[in-house]
Amino acid sequence: MGLLQDISGPLSQQLSQLSIVSQVGVVVAGLLFVSVFLNIFNQILFKNPNEPPVIFHWFPVIGSTITYGMDPPRFFQENREKYGDIFTFILLGKKTTVYVGPAGNEFILNGKLKDVNAEEIYTVLTTPVFGRDVVYDCPNSKLMEQKKFMKIALTTQAFQSYVPIIADEVTNYFKRSPDFKANAGIVNISKSMAQITIFTASHSLQGSEIRNKFDESLADLYHDLDMGFSPVNFMLHWAPLPWNKRRDYAQKTIAKVYMDTIKERRAAGKSDSQDIMWHLMNSTYKDGVKIPDHEVAHMMIALLMAGQHSSSSTSSWIMLRLASRPDILEVLYREQVETLGADLPPLTYEDLAKLPLNQAIIKETLRLNAPIHSILRAVKSPMPVPGTKYVVPTSHQLLAAAGVSATDPEYFPEPDLWEPTRWNKDSPLAPRLAKSVEDEEKIDYGYGLVSKGANSPYLPFGAGRHRCIGEQFANVQLQTIVAMVVRQFKLRNVDGSNKVIGTDYASLFSRPLEPANIHWEKREQ
Ligand code: HEM
Repeated sequence: MGLLQDISGPLSQQLSQLSIVSQVGVVVAGLLFVSVFLNIFNQILFKNPNEPPVIFHWFPVIGSTITYGMDPPRFFQENREKYGDIFTFILLGKKTTVYVGPAGNEFILNGKLKDVNAEEIYTVLTTPVFGRDVVYDCPNSKLMEQKKFMKIALTTQAFQSYVPIIADEVTNYFKRSPDFKANAGIVNISKSMAQITIFTASHSLQGSEIRNKFDESLADLYHDLDMGFSPVNFMLHWAPLPWNKRRDYAQKTIAKVYMDTIKERRAAGKSDSQDIMWHLMNSTYKDGVKIPDHEVAHMMIALLMAGQHSSSSTSSWIMLRLASRPDILEVLYREQVETLGADLPPLTYEDLAKLPLNQAIIKETLRLNAPIHSILRAVKSPMPVPGTKYVVPTSHQLLAAAGVSATDPEYFPEPDLWEPTRWNKDSPLAPRLAKSVEDEEKIDYGYGLVSKGANSPYLPFGAGRHRCIGEQFANVQLQTIVAMVVRQFKLRNVDGSNKVIGTDYASLFSRPLEPANIHWEKREQ
């Protein structure tokens, strides 16, 4: 009897715990069912005819987050076919209105300051990475001044000094790298391109003192800083998680490296390179305040981070495209031999302008593989959409996806074909643009004249007040890297096919899936 009591005590406790768990389970399932039901009911019965159509979704909050995140371009394409150029979807609980096509790009990217806002969206991610008082951690008017300082530093004279620096970095990289020791081999090209991008950008934009530190501590610190840019940090940027702790430590340490370098340069009273740091150290805001050292340091971080992902992803795509089309790589090589001479003299800035195919490679790759697939803005006042009955309310955010028009057959014949020669005016595949970039209307948002980009279907560098200031630098950097690689290597796919690997959309910037292996072979010198 005693034994029976001993057993039945814990057993009855377990049974009652089980029944509590199952009751909770029933309640949760019931609540889920009700919320799914209400969500569907709401979508069917309460359509607002004055707002863009909402993409049907089963679950509230999650909405279309998963289908969007898996393949954003496909998501835009499919929903454009169903709903037209403007539609709304739920992204992590937020109503997000997508407006594609040239009119949509214009509506969002050239939106007025009183209507659209970038910093509200991006600051949670960027401020812990870049540091205080720069880019999205300051009023837009201050960002415009900061962009002006950075842009002014990127002069023709500066580019003339950068090309030999970049070319030497590329040559030395291939001499040093254990991945390129033999005469031929297979390499994960994304890894090599990430390293080449950081060495070339840091050396040219920030000077040799900073570049040399990348061989020591800076590379690992920048890697930790980079982890702060994962999309999950849109929600968890504040959380005391291991990667956020490493991000914060890296930010402080890197900023100190820059501030120490600034002090050393001030003490020496000069700099021997045409870099941006030197220029910013000697710039003054309109109100007469000199840029404080911590802001110079934080802008240096922002510049390197902004350029790193975009340029490194683009150069990887270029190498993958060339490996899929070795015939084009050979035409590129001949372009240099015929234009610059069989001895291939050291590359100069002026040489780049003489190599149209080398330039077109970058344009065409950015058309199909632009690293930024979505640009977000908060809506600050209700925005009527011209030519429609819609008004986008302030409870929505806006999403521009310039890649949609860049792959639209209306503007680009055979849009999925990577064909750099389409950028020749006489090509049957030439883009059908209303105006050439040179003829575009120009506007000054406070950081110098830029083409407005209105009605252009090709905007890999964005448009409006947040347009990229690194476009020219990126072109110089990428053209030089491509020219130097073509001089030294023949590339092909490992299986000899002309396939190109898929895209990884899991991080903020789209890039090739890894490992992005290609076969390389050194040219006979
Ligand atoms: C902004 C693309 C390289 C610095 C942007 C934007 C795009 C873009 C689309 C607009 C973002 C928005 O509107 O929210 C690219 C591509 C690159 C590249 C495709 C290379 C292939 C660079 C480089 C630098 C740079 C090398 C620095 C040297 C910036 C800065 C902004 C910007 C400072 C301004 C952000 C703002 O005003 O909100 N870029 N970029 N970019 N980019 Fe780039």
